[in-house]
Amino acid sequence: MPDWLLYTGSRRTHDGIDRLPPPPPWRAFDGEPVLRSPSGGSGSEHHATTYRPSDDAVQQVNAALYLRRPLLVTGPPGTGKSTLAYAVAHELGLGPVLHWPITSRTTLRDGLYQYDPLTRLYAAGRDDAPRDEDIGRYIRLGPLGTALLPYGRPRVLLVDEIDKSDIDLPNDLLTIFEKGEYELPELTRRADPSAEVMTADGPGARVTVTAGTVRCNAFPLVVMTSNGEREFPPAFLRRCVTVELRQPAGEAELSAIVREHLGPLADQSDDLVRRFFERSTSGTLATDQLLNAVYLCRHADTEDRRALADRIMPYLTGPVDDD
Ligand SMILES: Nc1ncnc2c1ncn2[C@@H]1O[C@H](COP(=O)(O)OP(=O)(O)OP(=O)(O)O)[C@@H](O)[C@H]1O
Ligand SMILES: [Mg+2]
Repeated sequence: MPDWLLYTGSRRTHDGIDRLPPPPPWRAFDGEPVLRSPSGGSGSEHHATTYRPSDDAVQQVNAALYLRRPLLVTGPPGTGKSTLAYAVAHELGLGPVLHWPITSRTTLRDGLYQYDPLTRLYAAGRDDAPRDEDIGRYIRLGPLGTALLPYGRPRVLLVDEIDKSDIDLPNDLLTIFEKGEYELPELTRRADPSAEVMTADGPGARVTVTAGTVRCNAFPLVVMTSNGEREFPPAFLRRCVTVELRQPAGEAELSAIVREHLGPLADQSDDLVRRFFERSTSGTLATDQLLNAVYLCRHADTEDRRALADRIMPYLTGPVDDD
């Protein structure tokens, strides 16, 4: 394994992130005061500890870490695009992944923060309302807003299925990723623009924002996934590190993934792995369909494993199965 790789795909947690060199001068950020990331797992331990990345994915994750650039991960369904974020967070001990699922209605503002003026107004009208009430109780940073807090180590932000977004979102994101900062006008308008706001790390997590602006320190590892439903503009692609994931190339690789997930339950599953490959020459199948088939065939009391497996592994695109 080349020395420069911090993330190696070993599935064991280590402190390799301490060897991350300072950023290139054009990607240096100086947000303060520097915060410690919350401790704890990635948020999806089974998937994080069973993931076997391709060599290309390992290399591109490291390139994104070194260059402080977002990683755009493309590929067919079930090739492990989302899981990659959890695997990196687990191995490098970067704490819980900040998950931001994207739909056609998602806006940049949803990812940055939400302000709840109605509840604040209601609270201010109560007889027992404090005079200078705590505005931070009505501001919650979203996954993107939290990832850009001045953490000393990169947080992992999963921008999941960015190709489902409204046409403007990728460009809006670019601007934020270039600057590494954003403003909360609800705070900057006030005489005292500092407040202790809530974060995306759960109900108890609060962080002080000074001068109404959040600026990152260690640039987060941003993993953006896409199923290819949209082409991205060159200006967007130029600012990302890209990687395309593929289905496992051969039976040995696929068997290793099955064993990683199912341990001894994967014994005697070679026939199903072979069947998966046979079928995948005619249409799209995803690795987790095979995992389900192996698990079920191991427990189901049936003579005809192949028929049961075929029902559990219908084509996602391509020919229609005969029943
Ligand atoms: N290389 C791999 N090693 C181990 N498990 C894998 C690998 N690739 C995929 N899987 C497993 O396949 C399942 C699907 O992975 P994941 O959800 O990350 O795929 P995806 O590419 O994000 O799919 P989608 O496009 O549908 O969102 C998970 O259970 C994951 O653990
Ligand atoms: Mg996914």
